[in-house]
Amino acid sequence: MEFTTDILSVFDKKWALLTAGNEDNFNTMTISWGGLGTLWGKPVATVYVRTSRYTHDFMDSNGYFTVSFYPEECRKALGILGSKSGRDMDKMSESGLTPIKAGDSMSFKEAEVTLVCKKLFKQQLDVANMPEDVAKAKYEGQAPHDMYIGEIVDIIRKG
Ligand SMILES: Cc1cc2nc3c(=O)[nH]c(=O)nc-3n(C[C@H](O)[C@H](O)[C@H](O)COP(=O)(O)O)c2cc1C
Repeated sequence: MEFTTDILSVFDKKWALLTAGNEDNFNTMTISWGGLGTLWGKPVATVYVRTSRYTHDFMDSNGYFTVSFYPEECRKALGILGSKSGRDMDKMSESGLTPIKAGDSMSFKEAEVTLVCKKLFKQQLDVANMPEDVAKAKYEGQAPHDMYIGEIVDIIRKG
Protein backbone atom coordinates (compact mmCIF):
# COMPACT_ATOMS: atom_id res chain seq x y z
CA MET A 1 0.00 0.00 0.00
CA GLU A 2 1.23 3.46 -0.88
CA PHE A 3 0.45 5.92 1.91
CA THR A 4 0.16 9.55 0.86
CA THR A 5 -0.89 12.51 2.98
CA ASP A 6 -2.39 14.53 0.09
CA ILE A 7 -5.86 13.84 1.44
CA LEU A 8 -4.97 15.78 4.61
CA SER A 9 -4.83 19.06 2.71
CA VAL A 10 -7.83 18.52 0.42
CA PHE A 11 -10.29 20.54 2.54
CA ASP A 12 -7.78 23.20 3.56
CA LYS A 13 -6.29 23.87 0.11
CA LYS A 14 -9.00 22.91 -2.36
CA TRP A 15 -12.05 23.84 -0.28
CA ALA A 16 -15.41 22.09 -0.79
CA LEU A 17 -19.12 22.80 -0.88
CA LEU A 18 -21.39 21.47 1.82
CA THR A 19 -24.95 21.17 0.51
CA ALA A 20 -28.16 20.01 2.19
CA GLY A 21 -31.80 19.97 1.17
CA ASN A 22 -33.82 18.81 -1.83
CA GLU A 23 -34.51 20.10 -5.34
CA ASP A 24 -37.22 22.46 -4.07
CA ASN A 25 -35.35 23.86 -1.11
CA PHE A 26 -31.62 23.54 -0.48
CA ASN A 27 -28.60 25.61 0.46
CA THR A 28 -24.86 25.35 0.08
CA MET A 29 -21.76 26.91 1.61
CA THR A 30 -18.01 26.71 1.21
CA ILE A 31 -16.09 24.72 3.82
CA SER A 32 -12.40 24.20 4.46
CA TRP A 33 -12.59 22.27 7.70
CA GLY A 34 -13.47 18.62 7.47
CA GLY A 35 -12.21 15.09 7.43
CA LEU A 36 -12.60 11.67 5.88
CA GLY A 37 -12.21 8.44 7.83
CA THR A 38 -13.96 5.54 9.50
CA LEU A 39 -16.51 5.39 12.33
CA TRP A 40 -18.50 2.41 13.60
CA GLY A 41 -17.08 0.43 10.68
CA LYS A 42 -18.44 2.87 8.09
CA PRO A 43 -16.64 5.25 5.72
CA VAL A 44 -17.46 8.76 6.95
CA ALA A 45 -17.06 12.45 6.21
CA THR A 46 -16.96 14.97 9.06
CA VAL A 47 -17.83 18.65 8.67
CA TYR A 48 -18.04 21.60 11.09
CA VAL A 49 -20.82 24.15 10.69
CA ARG A 50 -21.31 27.29 12.77
CA THR A 51 -24.84 27.40 14.14
CA SER A 52 -25.26 30.87 12.59
CA ARG A 53 -25.00 29.57 8.99
CA TYR A 54 -28.18 29.26 6.93
CA THR A 55 -26.83 25.87 5.79
CA HIS A 56 -26.98 24.78 9.45
CA ASP A 57 -30.82 24.88 9.28
CA PHE A 58 -30.71 22.54 6.26
CA MET A 59 -28.21 20.20 7.96
CA ASP A 60 -30.64 19.82 10.87
CA SER A 61 -33.79 19.37 8.81
CA ASN A 62 -32.41 16.82 6.28
CA GLY A 63 -31.14 13.26 6.69
CA TYR A 64 -28.53 13.58 3.92
CA PHE A 65 -25.89 16.09 2.85
CA THR A 66 -23.19 16.23 0.19
CA VAL A 67 -19.55 17.30 0.25
CA SER A 68 -18.33 18.20 -3.24
CA PHE A 69 -14.92 19.15 -4.66
CA TYR A 70 -14.25 21.47 -7.64
CA PRO A 71 -11.62 22.27 -10.25
CA GLU A 72 -9.57 25.45 -9.81
CA GLU A 73 -11.72 27.40 -12.31
CA CYS A 74 -14.62 27.25 -9.82
CA ARG A 75 -12.61 29.01 -7.07
CA LYS A 76 -14.44 32.32 -7.66
CA ALA A 77 -17.83 30.59 -7.31
CA LEU A 78 -16.69 28.97 -4.06
CA GLY A 79 -15.57 32.41 -2.87
CA ILE A 80 -19.09 33.78 -3.45
CA LEU A 81 -20.76 30.80 -1.77
CA GLY A 82 -18.42 31.20 1.21
CA SER A 83 -18.92 34.91 1.75
CA LYS A 84 -22.64 35.45 1.14
CA SER A 85 -25.60 33.86 2.88
CA GLY A 86 -28.47 32.09 1.16
CA ARG A 87 -30.60 33.69 3.86
CA ASP A 88 -30.13 37.11 2.23
CA MET A 89 -29.96 36.42 -1.49
CA ASP A 90 -29.97 33.83 -4.28
CA LYS A 91 -26.22 33.27 -4.06
CA MET A 92 -26.40 29.99 -5.97
CA SER A 93 -27.55 31.80 -9.14
CA GLU A 94 -24.82 34.40 -8.62
CA SER A 95 -22.16 31.68 -8.33
CA GLY A 96 -23.05 30.35 -11.80
CA LEU A 97 -22.90 26.72 -10.65
CA THR A 98 -25.58 24.30 -11.90
CA PRO A 99 -27.54 22.45 -9.18
CA ILE A 100 -28.14 18.72 -9.73
CA LYS A 101 -29.76 15.99 -7.67
CA ALA A 102 -27.19 13.74 -5.97
CA GLY A 103 -28.71 10.68 -4.28
CA ASP A 104 -31.09 11.94 -1.58
CA SER A 105 -29.47 15.38 -1.59
CA MET A 106 -28.10 18.00 -3.99
CA SER A 107 -24.75 18.89 -5.56
CA PHE A 108 -23.54 20.82 -8.63
CA LYS A 109 -22.76 19.66 -12.17
CA GLU A 110 -19.28 21.25 -12.07
CA ALA A 111 -18.12 19.05 -9.13
CA GLU A 112 -15.20 16.70 -9.81
CA VAL A 113 -16.31 14.46 -6.96
CA THR A 114 -19.42 14.46 -4.77
CA LEU A 115 -19.63 12.47 -1.55
CA VAL A 116 -23.26 11.67 -0.72
CA CYS A 117 -23.52 11.39 3.06
CA LYS A 118 -26.22 10.00 5.35
CA LYS A 119 -26.27 11.89 8.64
CA LEU A 120 -25.05 9.64 11.45
CA PHE A 121 -24.09 11.93 14.31
CA LYS A 122 -24.08 15.56 15.45
CA GLN A 123 -22.44 17.19 18.43
CA GLN A 124 -21.44 20.73 19.36
CA LEU A 125 -17.74 21.43 19.89
CA ASP A 126 -17.47 22.23 23.59
CA VAL A 127 -15.35 25.32 24.21
CA ALA A 128 -14.44 23.93 27.66
CA ASN A 129 -12.52 21.08 25.99
CA MET A 130 -10.44 23.25 23.60
CA PRO A 131 -7.05 24.84 23.98
CA GLU A 132 -7.57 28.34 25.44
CA ASP A 133 -6.01 30.13 22.47
CA VAL A 134 -8.37 28.38 20.04
CA ALA A 135 -11.42 29.15 22.20
CA LYS A 136 -10.40 32.82 22.32
CA ALA A 137 -9.53 33.17 18.64
CA LYS A 138 -12.40 31.21 17.13
CA TYR A 139 -15.32 31.39 19.56
CA GLU A 140 -15.24 34.57 21.66
CA GLY A 141 -18.37 36.43 20.59
CA GLN A 142 -18.93 33.94 17.74
CA ALA A 143 -21.40 31.12 17.21
CA PRO A 144 -20.20 27.59 18.09
CA HIS A 145 -19.55 24.87 15.52
CA ASP A 146 -21.70 21.77 15.29
CA MET A 147 -19.81 18.71 14.09
CA TYR A 148 -21.75 16.47 11.71
CA ILE A 149 -20.55 13.01 10.77
CA GLY A 150 -22.13 11.39 7.73
CA GLU A 151 -21.78 7.90 6.30
CA ILE A 152 -20.49 8.14 2.72
CA VAL A 153 -23.16 6.14 0.88
CA ASP A 154 -22.14 7.12 -2.66
CA ILE A 155 -19.20 8.74 -4.45
CA ILE A 156 -20.22 10.45 -7.69
CA ARG A 157 -17.39 11.28 -10.11
CA LYS A 158 -17.83 13.66 -13.04
CA GLY A 159 -18.60 11.43 -15.99
C1 LIG B 1 -12.58 29.11 2.26
C2 LIG B 1 -13.74 29.13 3.20
C3 LIG B 1 -13.91 28.10 4.12
C4 LIG B 1 -14.99 28.09 5.03
N1 LIG B 1 -15.13 27.03 5.88
C5 LIG B 1 -16.17 27.00 6.75
C6 LIG B 1 -16.36 25.87 7.61
O1 LIG B 1 -15.64 24.86 7.57
N2 LIG B 1 -17.40 25.93 8.49
C7 LIG B 1 -18.25 27.00 8.57
O2 LIG B 1 -19.20 27.01 9.40
N3 LIG B 1 -18.12 28.07 7.72
C8 LIG B 1 -17.10 28.08 6.82
N4 LIG B 1 -16.97 29.13 5.94
C9 LIG B 1 -17.93 30.26 5.98
C10 LIG B 1 -19.24 30.00 5.22
O3 LIG B 1 -18.99 29.41 3.96
C11 LIG B 1 -19.96 31.34 5.01
O4 LIG B 1 -20.26 31.91 6.27
C12 LIG B 1 -21.20 31.27 4.14
O5 LIG B 1 -21.52 32.58 3.73
C13 LIG B 1 -22.39 30.62 4.86
O6 LIG B 1 -23.46 30.63 3.96
P1 LIG B 1 -24.97 30.32 4.39
O7 LIG B 1 -25.37 31.34 5.47
O8 LIG B 1 -25.75 30.48 3.12
O9 LIG B 1 -24.99 28.93 4.95
C14 LIG B 1 -15.91 29.16 5.03
C15 LIG B 1 -15.75 30.22 4.10
C16 LIG B 1 -14.70 30.21 3.19
C17 LIG B 1 -14.55 31.32 2.18
